[in-house]
Amino acid sequence: MINNTLQKKIFIETYGCQMNEYDSELVRSILKKENYEFVTDELKADIVMLNTCAIREHAHRVVYGRVYHIRHLRGKDNPVMIGILGCMATNLRQELLENRNLKIDFIAGPDSYKRLPQLIREAMDTGQKAYDVTLSEFETYSDITPSRKEGVNAWIAVMRGCNNFCTFCVVPYTRGRERSRSPQNVVEEVRRLSDEGFKQVTLLGQNVNSYRYEDYDFAYLLEEVSKVDGLERIRFTSPHPKDFPDRLLEIVANNPKVCKHIHLPLQAGNNRILDLMNRTYTREEFLGLVDKMRALIPHVALSTDIIIGFCSETEAEFEETLDVVRRVEFDSAFTFKYSQRKGTIASKKYPDDVPDNKKTDRIMRLNDLQKEISYRKNQAHIGQVQEILIDAASANRSQDQIPGRTDGNQLVMIPPGPYKVGDLVKVRITDATPHALKGAPMFPEET
Ligand code: 5AD
Ligand code: SF4
Repeated sequence: MINNTLQKKIFIETYGCQMNEYDSELVRSILKKENYEFVTDELKADIVMLNTCAIREHAHRVVYGRVYHIRHLRGKDNPVMIGILGCMATNLRQELLENRNLKIDFIAGPDSYKRLPQLIREAMDTGQKAYDVTLSEFETYSDITPSRKEGVNAWIAVMRGCNNFCTFCVVPYTRGRERSRSPQNVVEEVRRLSDEGFKQVTLLGQNVNSYRYEDYDFAYLLEEVSKVDGLERIRFTSPHPKDFPDRLLEIVANNPKVCKHIHLPLQAGNNRILDLMNRTYTREEFLGLVDKMRALIPHVALSTDIIIGFCSETEAEFEETLDVVRRVEFDSAFTFKYSQRKGTIASKKYPDDVPDNKKTDRIMRLNDLQKEISYRKNQAHIGQVQEILIDAASANRSQDQIPGRTDGNQLVMIPPGPYKVGDLVKVRITDATPHALKGAPMFPEET
């Protein structure tokens, strides 16, 4: 048993999406108020919390491996409590509670973080597993100020949950229904962030552009946030193609603070598969939306998510996905092999029948094509002048290069100079690889 009277030390590790990163910041804030201390060395912690993802099989295998590894590292003489938070907590509650080898002490789903102090105490006092994975229709954590790491960018969740029920996706089950924070509440937080020195905010939501609070929509929210002084850039992720009214595109086009980058998840380029996925658009509608975005927002950068090998996808249908990728020429793409998830509509209705070797072959072909496109598009930037925001997250990765991001979210490495994290620097692009650009800072007389 661990000592119950001293201030407890917590180590938290985060998997999955930006929403999970943000949620870990909420958890830090909730537990710091209760006098817990956060440490960066798992060996010094009394409690290890893994904030997990359930989106693909791989994510959950990594977490199981981590739990065994931590138990092994600590051995019998140096015990530690382990808690599972996040999407796996809701998705695999039964298994986590019953699996004797895993020895989990407490479990909290994405809407139960305010109960963490109680759950930890309960597990400590009783030696029994404590859990709460109830999903809420209301919890937005709008009354909690996340304990953020310093940097350039602050994540801010403006809505949570999902009502779309794409048939492959576990999120509606792990994170429940859509709910949004009030615009006033979001703007107040952004104002505080700007006062604290954050230069960029990224508005987050599982379907961020489905944001709705009373009569206020996402376009309204974006415009209100952009009025906050001191803020340089606003990003948002992840949107759904179904929620891009013209007014929203016009704000992205015309508001100088809103970055000209849209993440537009395609998922598949064939209409039968899109229908099986319940994406609610056709390939033609998707291509039409891309044309409209490009017409209204010249030079907009587009990134996407694509799933290959969804149930019953044929070679010809996969080639239609390649065809859309060729036509759109996304700046970048996140590609995934379909992974059946427990509880989803697809797992109940459609067999996961594309063999893994075919999935591997398809994803490699897709990645090769995208790499070629990204390389070509990156090379076209050579000679251009771009403004980059020196970026905290990777500032220490390499000492002879400083990283920054363009408005279109492209990584640009520049030679060291008198720049601080958070500075906006004008650079001329001098070189390109498929994944990044190189730049040379411009002298004032050049700009
Ligand atoms: N299998 C593979 N990829 C998936 N994604 C979501 N669910 C699955 C799944 N079951 C991908 C989608 C989504 C991204 C976040 O993860 O492309 O946009
Ligand atoms: Fe994020 Fe979805 Fe993974 Fe949950 S399942 S952590 S919402 S990506």
